[in-house]
Amino acid sequence: MTEPIETASRDELRALQLGRLQWTLRHAYENVPLYHRKFDEAGVRPEDCRTLEDLSRFPFTTKQDLRETYPFGMFAVPRDRIARIHASSGTTGRPTVVGYTQADLDMWADVVARSIRAAGGRPGDRVHVAYGYGLFTGGLGAHYGAERLGCTVIPVSGGMTERQVRLIADFEPDIIMVTPSYMLTIVDEMERQGLDPHGTTLRVGIFGAEPWTEDMRTEMESRLGIDAVDIYGLSEVIGPGVAAECVETKDGLHVWEDHFYPEIVDPADGRVLPDGDEGELLFTSLTKEAMPIIRYRTRDLSRLLPGTARTMRRMERITGRTDDMMIVRGVNVFPTQIEELILRIPGLAPHYQCVLTRPGRMDELTVRVESRPDATPDGRELAALIKNSIGVTAAVEILPPDGLERSVGKARRIVDNRR
Ligand code: DLL
Repeated sequence: MTEPIETASRDELRALQLGRLQWTLRHAYENVPLYHRKFDEAGVRPEDCRTLEDLSRFPFTTKQDLRETYPFGMFAVPRDRIARIHASSGTTGRPTVVGYTQADLDMWADVVARSIRAAGGRPGDRVHVAYGYGLFTGGLGAHYGAERLGCTVIPVSGGMTERQVRLIADFEPDIIMVTPSYMLTIVDEMERQGLDPHGTTLRVGIFGAEPWTEDMRTEMESRLGIDAVDIYGLSEVIGPGVAAECVETKDGLHVWEDHFYPEIVDPADGRVLPDGDEGELLFTSLTKEAMPIIRYRTRDLSRLLPGTARTMRRMERITGRTDDMMIVRGVNVFPTQIEELILRIPGLAPHYQCVLTRPGRMDELTVRVESRPDATPDGRELAALIKNSIGVTAAVEILPPDGLERSVGKARRIVDNRR
C-alpha cells in the first residue's frame, strides 16, 4: 500500500527532484523580490543549478526573512490564487505567515494521507484529530490528509480533556493524531475517570509537533496498547507531513523527498554535511506554488539516513531545536535528554519542565517533574542520573500528579527565568 514514488529507485527520485528544484528556483527568483535580491547578492541564478548538489550555492532562508516580509511578501502568486493562510504565533516578534494555492493544499493532503498510511491507517479508519484547529497547521493539515485517505475524520481539536476521553469511548476511533504531551494528559484523564486506556479502540497514535523520545514511545505504547509513530513538519515548509515514520520499522521518519528536499548543515557555519552527520535540518520545497521556500533553516537538529521501508531517506527523530539547547556550566543539554532519564525512574511521570535561572554568574537548571499517582520518588535519584549521564548538576523538584500546568498542544519544556 504505497504510491509508486515511495519505492522508486534513487535515480528516478533524483531526476524528479532536479527538475522540480530547477522549476522552484526559477519560480522563486522571478516572483519573490526577496529571493531575487538574495540570489543576486549571492551571485547565483536559477540556471546555475545543474545538479542537486548545486543547491548548496544558493542562499539560506530564515525565519527572519519571513518576519521582514510580513505578512504576504514571500508569496509567489497573485493574491487571488491564495486559497488558505496559516500562521505560527512564535514566542517573540511577528507571526510567520504562510500561504497555499489549491494545488498546494492538494499536495499537502496527499503527503499527510501518505503519512497516515505509513503509520498503518487505511481507508475507512476513524481518525480522532486532537491537534489544534485554526492558524496552527496541525488540525487542518491532519484533517484533510485523513479525508484524502478515505478515513472518517473526527475534528475534535485540542482542549476539553474530559470530552476527549468521552469521545474516544463513544466514537471508537482507530487512530488518534495529537501532540505526544497532550496524549499523555488524555491518558492520565482516562485513568482518573477509572477507564482502562488499554481498553479503547485506538490502534495507532500519530504524534508530532514537538520533540519526544523513544522512551516516551514505549510509555505510550504500553499504556494504550497502540503503535505510536512520529510525524514531522513545519508551517514554513507546509505543515505536518514533511516526514513520517512507517509503522513496520519505526526507525525514524521518511522524508517525502518528492516534495521536500532535505539537507543537513553545520549550524555554526552553514557548511553542508554528509548524510549520517548530525546538524541542522534544511528544507527546499520542490512543488509549492504559493510560497516556494529555498534552503529553509529549521533550527531542528537531526541526521539523514538511508531509506529502509521506503527508498526516500529518513531523518532521525529530532533531538531538539538549536533554540532549545540549554548550556548549563558549559554542557549542552536538551529537554529530550532529561525526558529519557525521567522515564527510567518508575515513580516519575513524564510531565516535566526545565527551569533556567542565573542566581550568580552561572546558569542553573532545575528539573520540575511530577510523581506518578501513589508513588513517592526521591529527587536525588534523577539528579544522580542527570549528573552521571549528561554531566551536569541539576536540582530536582518533585511535584504531585497534576502539579505542572498542562498544555493542550505543544508542551512548554523550558522556562527561562534568567534575566
Ligand atoms: O508543528 C506542524 C506539525 C503539526 C507537525 C502536527 C506535526 C504534527 P509549526 O508549528 O510550524 O508546525 O512548528 C514546527 O515543531 O520546526 C519542530 O521544531 C517541531 N516539530 C514538529 N514536528 C516534530 C516532531 C508544526 N515530530 C516545529 N518531532 C518544527 C520533533 C517536531 N519536533
